[in-house]
Amino acid sequence: MNRIEQYEILKALPKVDLHRHLEGSIRIETLLEMGRKRGLDLPLESAEALAPHVTWQPGQPRSLKHFLTKFHADWYSSYSDVERISREAFEDAAASGVVYLELRFSPEHLSRHSGLSPEGTMEAVVESGMQAADDAGMDAGFIVTFTRERYDFDQWKSVINHAVELSDKGIVGVDLAGDEFAYPNRQFIRIMDRAHDTSVLNITIHAGEGTSAASVSSAVESLHAQRIGHGISAAEDSMLMQKLAQGTVTLEMCPNSNFQTGCVHELKDHPLPMLKNAGVRVCINSDDPAMHQNTLTDEYMVAVEQWGFGLEELFELEKIAVDSAFVNEALRKKIMQRVSDAYLSRGIESLK
Ligand code: HPA
Ligand code: ZN
Repeated sequence: MNRIEQYEILKALPKVDLHRHLEGSIRIETLLEMGRKRGLDLPLESAEALAPHVTWQPGQPRSLKHFLTKFHADWYSSYSDVERISREAFEDAAASGVVYLELRFSPEHLSRHSGLSPEGTMEAVVESGMQAADDAGMDAGFIVTFTRERYDFDQWKSVINHAVELSDKGIVGVDLAGDEFAYPNRQFIRIMDRAHDTSVLNITIHAGEGTSAASVSSAVESLHAQRIGHGISAAEDSMLMQKLAQGTVTLEMCPNSNFQTGCVHELKDHPLPMLKNAGVRVCINSDDPAMHQNTLTDEYMVAVEQWGFGLEELFELEKIAVDSAFVNEALRKKIMQRVSDAYLSRGIESLK
């Protein structure tokens, strides 16, 4: 089977994405339109001119710090801008075969320069995204991301309270992202206790993205993480791997993102296969598709081409993702059925 045929099979398979940022999913054409409307001081004459500022390009530095400079927060002028980017994120996910997307977004980022309220942006993302998911025949959940650099206990607490209010509309959890080198986990214990105390919101934490295995451990032990964003550094500590293998914490891995932020040297050296063999719960996700210029299908191609995975291994990862989704049991069963039907009807070996 040639590469194009393999790609089409992977694209058509129903996939689950547990780690995708709205702010990293904005189409470049949409950025151009929003940026021109706001008169931003960026090269907005063409997609080609803007691309190096908002996407990672070969030859650019490979570090988390450099990558995070690409998140400009001044694009948005109105709630309809926010609704638009949420809708488009679901349309793009559907086009790469995603059937369940947990989209994460930062109300602070969306409101920082726009004059919109954080609470209003939450409603806009969730209502518009849910409608778009429904239109595409997908299911959806939403995660509120807090950015380490922007810690503000009172503001974050009020976002948590509003997330609880919106839990019946689709908000399922909270996330901590940003620079974990400069802003380590211990600074966020009090606020994550608060999120955990709600008993409604689930918790996922970006940790071990090139830092250390200790950052993964402390996210689980001190910040109540049920899932870890990336968790690459867990592979450096066999005791931690053993512990993870015995527990329920899942690592949401994003191979191309991990390459572009320099936490793996080469895609073929990514620790996902080793972690999987050690019994750690891992799954494959997209992170920031517009910025990495990837789709979830591309990430599955990495598994096939770089690690020699076939459908059998991908099915195992997909089942872990479904099992780790922040959904009720009825929805989990529905998604699992959809995924299983597709893999079983393809015949598990057929990627050769
Ligand atoms: N790491 C930390 N923060 C982020 C990332 C990431 O990979 N993507 C978007 N915000
Ligand atoms: Zn991320």
